[in-house]
Amino acid sequence: MLSLILLVGYLILVVIMLVFSVVFAVYTFFLFISNLKGSPFVPTSSDQTKKILKEAGLKKNQVFLDLGCGDGRTVILADKLYNVKAIGIDVNPVLIALSRLKARFQNSKAIFKVENILETDKIAKADVIYIFLMPNFIDKLKNKLQTAKKGALIISHGFKIGYFDKKLVKTIKDKPFFTYFYRM
Ligand SMILES: C[S@@+](CC[C@H](N)C(=O)[O-])C[C@H]1O[C@@H](n2cnc3c(N)ncnc32)[C@H](O)[C@@H]1O
Repeated sequence: MLSLILLVGYLILVVIMLVFSVVFAVYTFFLFISNLKGSPFVPTSSDQTKKILKEAGLKKNQVFLDLGCGDGRTVILADKLYNVKAIGIDVNPVLIALSRLKARFQNSKAIFKVENILETDKIAKADVIYIFLMPNFIDKLKNKLQTAKKGALIISHGFKIGYFDKKLVKTIKDKPFFTYFYRM
């Protein structure tokens, strides 16, 4: 009887380890994909997210779009604090699944979609666009970001958008990253 209990215990342990390894492998694989597609997943710190959203001056029913939303933290917070139409897109399906899960648990109506920034048609409809992307990827987005509507605010966390230098209206000089605000 004791050996049967030990065997069952051992089998349960093996299954748990297998499940954990598979989840870890899938997560790592998709992080690699994120990197390959443009930028690694590094979330904006919660403190900075709150300050950035406050400075954005979001108004009820405006469209807030996070291009490369990661785990959805900025999108969910924008929805909860400012009651905007908050949308997040990311090329990484694991992060989108996590964002949707977080939105459900936090009772948020934020919308998340697996989508490549280079192929999205959501930019023209947004009032406030948020990015936290690598500089070489930002360079590739020039044509896409230029489709933003007149008066839209583009917020770039971490890195300047060189080609919009003349549209820079505000900079938050914070740690670990500065944040740049551009008015189209
Ligand atoms: C530095 S993280 C920023 C995450 C989130 N915006 C935040 O500030 O917490 C960059 C995100 O962009 C996503 N990403 C990279 N290339 C992308 C692409 N071509 N299309 C959509 N998302 C992309 C990555 O999966 C990653 O989640």
